[in-house]
Amino acid sequence: MKKLLLTIVLSVSLFFKSFADEGMWLPLLLGQQVYNDMVKKGLKLTKDQLYHINKASLKDAIIIFGGGCTGEIVSAEGLIFTNHHCGYDAIASASTVEHNYLQNGFYAKNKGEEIPTTLSVQFLVRIDDITSQVLDSLKGLSGAERVQRQSAVLASINKRMSDATQNIETRVSPLFKGNQFLAFVYQRYTDVRLVGAPPESVGKFGGDTDNWEWPRHTGDFSVFRVYTGADGKPAKYAEGNMPMKPKWYLPVSLRPLKDGDFAMIWGYPGSTNRYESSYGIQLATDINNPTLVKLRDVRLKYMFEEMKKDPAIKLQLASSYAGIANYWKFYDGETKQLLKYDILGQKKKAEEKFNAWAKGKPEYAGIFSDWGKAYEAWRPYSKHRQYINEGIFGSPLMGFAASLTQVEAALVKTGSTAGDVRKAVDAANKQRTTFLAGENKLSDEHIVAAVARMFYEDVVKDQHPVGFYGTLKNNYGALDDDNTYKKYAADIFKNTMIFDDAKWNAFVANPDAITLQGDPAYNFANAFYTNYSSKYAPLYSQFTAKNAEYGRLYLKGIMEMDPVKAKMMYPDATFTMRVSYGNVKSYRPRDAVFYDYVTTSKGILEKYKAGDYEFDLPAKQIELLKKKDFGQYMDPTRKDLVVGFITTNDITGGNSGSPVINNRGELIGLAFDGNYEALSHKLAFDKDLNRTINVDIRYVLWCIDKLGGGANIIKELKLMK
Ligand code: ARG
Repeated sequence: MKKLLLTIVLSVSLFFKSFADEGMWLPLLLGQQVYNDMVKKGLKLTKDQLYHINKASLKDAIIIFGGGCTGEIVSAEGLIFTNHHCGYDAIASASTVEHNYLQNGFYAKNKGEEIPTTLSVQFLVRIDDITSQVLDSLKGLSGAERVQRQSAVLASINKRMSDATQNIETRVSPLFKGNQFLAFVYQRYTDVRLVGAPPESVGKFGGDTDNWEWPRHTGDFSVFRVYTGADGKPAKYAEGNMPMKPKWYLPVSLRPLKDGDFAMIWGYPGSTNRYESSYGIQLATDINNPTLVKLRDVRLKYMFEEMKKDPAIKLQLASSYAGIANYWKFYDGETKQLLKYDILGQKKKAEEKFNAWAKGKPEYAGIFSDWGKAYEAWRPYSKHRQYINEGIFGSPLMGFAASLTQVEAALVKTGSTAGDVRKAVDAANKQRTTFLAGENKLSDEHIVAAVARMFYEDVVKDQHPVGFYGTLKNNYGALDDDNTYKKYAADIFKNTMIFDDAKWNAFVANPDAITLQGDPAYNFANAFYTNYSSKYAPLYSQFTAKNAEYGRLYLKGIMEMDPVKAKMMYPDATFTMRVSYGNVKSYRPRDAVFYDYVTTSKGILEKYKAGDYEFDLPAKQIELLKKKDFGQYMDPTRKDLVVGFITTNDITGGNSGSPVINNRGELIGLAFDGNYEALSHKLAFDKDLNRTINVDIRYVLWCIDKLGGGANIIKELKLMK
């Protein structure tokens, strides 16, 4: 009896432990139980200080930064901290070979020196629960019909709840796979300026070798500022705009960290699928992930070859390269971890349990056999789809050329007017300018040649574009010979009007279908695009509609099956504001290996490799670190500069730039990565191994102040000692 009691107590506390660190909670719906657990873990703030419907609270300091990152307000004048990799594109765009801020870093000495960008940031104004309204309008619908109706309903609500005159944008997010609907109301500010960034060698220290891994020594931060019109409202860039006066900003802690310290992370996790089916896991590990990795391998290789040769090309391709490389390593690691921990087996077990419960319940009993059939029907085409997205249209030229199908449609469709043609051509003309600015022909030509051959060999023959490879063989030679594809790609790049201003302008002035159809780049893109979109895209839509349907029912069933647990479930990430809480914590990644919870300047010096592409550093940094010139940023216990630290928080891509906040609501670091051992986190959270990798705020300030001479920025902050 006693023993039994002990096991019950143990399992409850185990459950509680995993529950505490796993979870991306909606701040609006932060249940009392979750809040109480935060307090138990050390939080000193009240619920109202975290999130309040009409009073300023911590959540007002958290913003969507750019297209897919998080940022936080850290001063009374709208100063923003985010990651270097989130500001990367803006920093690269502001740079030239002569003023290379990406390479050398940049700090504005005063507001006049801050650099305008095309970025915008969004503040969350409020969240409305509109579940019953949406579910009412979907009653009785299923499958594709439901998917279509849902997107129409959400679009009309979004429109009704938005107001362009105030830059108010509403986006309804389906949570729990469409079992709950919340309307998130944002206000967008479009005057965002670059204030500072470390040299890339610091901001991306360790490059792709260290990416997604701990121990880490990356200074992954950058600094921006949001401006408003004189009335304090969102305004387009104008020299006379004013720094925003925010409702809330985060004070910054200089206090030392201890293993076990409370840490919460606020931000915008992009997507997770923690209730993915076993079929989905299998498709990812068998086909989708390996195909993506293989194709990205090739693209990265050819891009890197050109970037190495010329600093101007490096600047031009850097941002795109970093993005491709980031998820190349992610999906490779995800596959490995899914297999290593037998996530497939775990999912199957959970599904068996569900099936046993579902027996005799008509709404749920057949889900998994139907779901399996939907996957079986789609599986033969899934590799083809990866080839389209990551291979054929992984070529920037082909990506642009495929967009010209719109122009062709306008030219040949019956009933289309001269106005329609003009509109399509003008749009293409504008897109071409953007495309050309980012285009490196040498790497792209290699990519086209390589992926054309890979498609031929890897995708089953009966899915090839009809006649395409036969013609290629007739005109250029054997299909198992690289030279065939090289000659073909060379001809495309030499002869397409897309690179030829005279030919292109003549076409824009006088668009006709024959010219477009005769263009070799268009020909290539169109062959693959039309083949895929006419025959396989409809199958994909059928598949995703079914997948959505069974996913929604599965989750609905799970919540019905265990109502107590249902009350404590958090919804999958949907790029909506979440809070995750946990602790600063060391871990054991594998047998006999122990990972400390912090990294220090000592490790920077150990990794430093002069002249290396990923591990070089500014001479001044090495000098300062060797002298141990850490100033007020030194960690008193370690007598060193703490660079990074890890926490047990549950985050994912989109959280990049998120503030790591201590129990008093002060900024202690910026989250910028997840660890390799838990890269399957989107599909299955590992309660033992999952860690968030953060840059310590004291290292950020040291880089700004000591390395960058940006004392003016430090002065703006509220430092807590
Ligand atoms: N893994 C980081 C994230 O997804 C991005 C790091 C960017 N650095 C790089 N080497 N590609 O947030």
